[in-house]
Amino acid sequence: MLKSEYCGYLRLEDVGEAVTLAGWVHRRRDHGGLIFIDLRDRSGIVQVVINSAEQPEAHKIASQLRNEYVVQMTGEVVARPEALRNPNLATGDVEVSIQSVRILNPAKTPPFYINTESNVDETLRLKYRYLDLRREKMQKNIILRHKIIKFIRDFLDREDFLEIETPILLKSTPEGARDYVVPSRVHPGKFYALPQSPQQLKQLLMVAGFERYFQIARCFRDEDLRADRQPEFTQLDLEMSFVEQEDVLRLIETMLTQMVEQLTPGKRLLHKPFPHLTYTDAIDRYGSDKPDLRFGLPLVNSTDLFRESSFRAFQNVIASGGEIKALRGPEMAGYSRKQLDDLSHFVQQYGAHGIAWIALRPAGRKSSINKFLDEATVETLVQRTEAEPGDLIVLLADQPKVVAQALGNLRLEFGRRAGLMDNDIFAFAWIVDFPLLEWSEEEGRWQAMHHPFTSARPEDWALATSDPGAMRANAYDVVCNGWEIGGGSIRIHHREEQQRMFNLLGINEQSAQAKFGHLLEAFEYGAPPHGGIALGIARLVMLLSGERNIREVIAFPKTAAATDLMVNAPSPIDDKQLAELHLQIVPPENKEG
Ligand code: AMO
Repeated sequence: MLKSEYCGYLRLEDVGEAVTLAGWVHRRRDHGGLIFIDLRDRSGIVQVVINSAEQPEAHKIASQLRNEYVVQMTGEVVARPEALRNPNLATGDVEVSIQSVRILNPAKTPPFYINTESNVDETLRLKYRYLDLRREKMQKNIILRHKIIKFIRDFLDREDFLEIETPILLKSTPEGARDYVVPSRVHPGKFYALPQSPQQLKQLLMVAGFERYFQIARCFRDEDLRADRQPEFTQLDLEMSFVEQEDVLRLIETMLTQMVEQLTPGKRLLHKPFPHLTYTDAIDRYGSDKPDLRFGLPLVNSTDLFRESSFRAFQNVIASGGEIKALRGPEMAGYSRKQLDDLSHFVQQYGAHGIAWIALRPAGRKSSINKFLDEATVETLVQRTEAEPGDLIVLLADQPKVVAQALGNLRLEFGRRAGLMDNDIFAFAWIVDFPLLEWSEEEGRWQAMHHPFTSARPEDWALATSDPGAMRANAYDVVCNGWEIGGGSIRIHHREEQQRMFNLLGINEQSAQAKFGHLLEAFEYGAPPHGGIALGIARLVMLLSGERNIREVIAFPKTAAATDLMVNAPSPIDDKQLAELHLQIVPPENKEG
């Protein structure tokens, strides 16, 4: 080894030790006869000092060093004088008095500072990702990611799970996104699809008798990217045989609880055990199926209060099947006209027309709909929203979907403005009783809300012809602080039921056979009852590290346009490769239709 110790681990106990260190020059201060260097490696930083009087040779080399040079140094750990100790540095009680310096590799001046957490343009960071990853925050995130995955592996091993790999070159596995496909050279005109998740394979592993499986699995989805999505991402994918919903939930809850307790000291779980909310309640109270439960501010249904009102706008909404909901804005009664108008603009992004408001000001009540309000209505609104003097009450009238979206997002905005989103708190919850199906306007048919292998509540099959939209699934999501961390379900394990589900989704027998024949057939050879879940690893790391963008916890992520700026992918391939793959490129402008 070219080094005997990690820089960041040196402490007072090591004083007197002879050490060989190797790492990067983080910062250099030249005080003439003395050169101080912050030497950095994966573990952190230690200050080293080179004295020209004592070590002229080492001092000469040290005076050539620049930031990010790779160096090897030998010396002795010494205690810093009391007054010069640095309480902000883990190694701040000591420094290393250097006897020899060797330059292992010089470095060009990096395109951005590595030794400060300055705001650097993300394009530049992604182009020079290997430099960006040297920065302290990124090192911390990637190390935390490793710890989370190791924790998961150890935990599940103790719980009797087997880690089994499944193929990447496969066939379409529908999870609601487009597939990434790979052309076959040996089978002209045929393609593999990269898995959107190992869903069918893990179910087949249950048929194969493994009973408890997991995988840290790569998944690929060609979908619109957001702050919490990547085109390729990693799941903790898990499946269990002979279980009911509660068994899966209990296992994951125990794992997440222990993970937070062991890996994020100083942070705490708000609810233990995790609360269970039905999908309907979550939408009704928070306007979202991934509510941020660190704070209250529920959406309060107030349609009943305005049924008899003479306010035409509200009347029209009610008459067309809409609803009116109220939201409290803590200490926002003093908002100016402009600020109140901005709230209307805020909800307009989500398709609402605007808001009505009541400000509970010390000088008396003010409202945008004052002449339509009587005392009793205001009193009931105050009670229902638990508003206090100094608060604002916002009312929004629209179709339920728009109210949920607009007011749900305004609730988050109010939570943020009121400082209610404490990053040291994790508010985990289970969302249960998801609808089985959702209507796709685009395709004009029902689609599985989770995926087509999810079982329905047995009693709800009676609704299959009369009201399929009301059928509930044995499906669940685990959410935390406004993120969906994972989702799963109890699966179908009988062929007839699976076929029935495909029928409901408008997939006829022939096409079911072509796409999923392997699974249907497997169900005829003694498939055990089974269920499982998948958690987004990067979302977990984001949550535990306090990051707000998924790219901050992935070593080599893609941009929002699904490109890799470092290696320049995707990129063209040459004609020979195209010919081998039996492919021809039709540029978009020449495409018909
Ligand atoms: P689902 O599609 O809900 O379920 O995915 C499970 C979890 O994976 C994460 N996730 C993503 N993370 C980053 N980028 C993406 N594009 C992305 N898409 C999903 C989320 C999500 O909660 N086969 C089922 C699981 C099952 O039924 O067992 C599935 O994949 O955290």
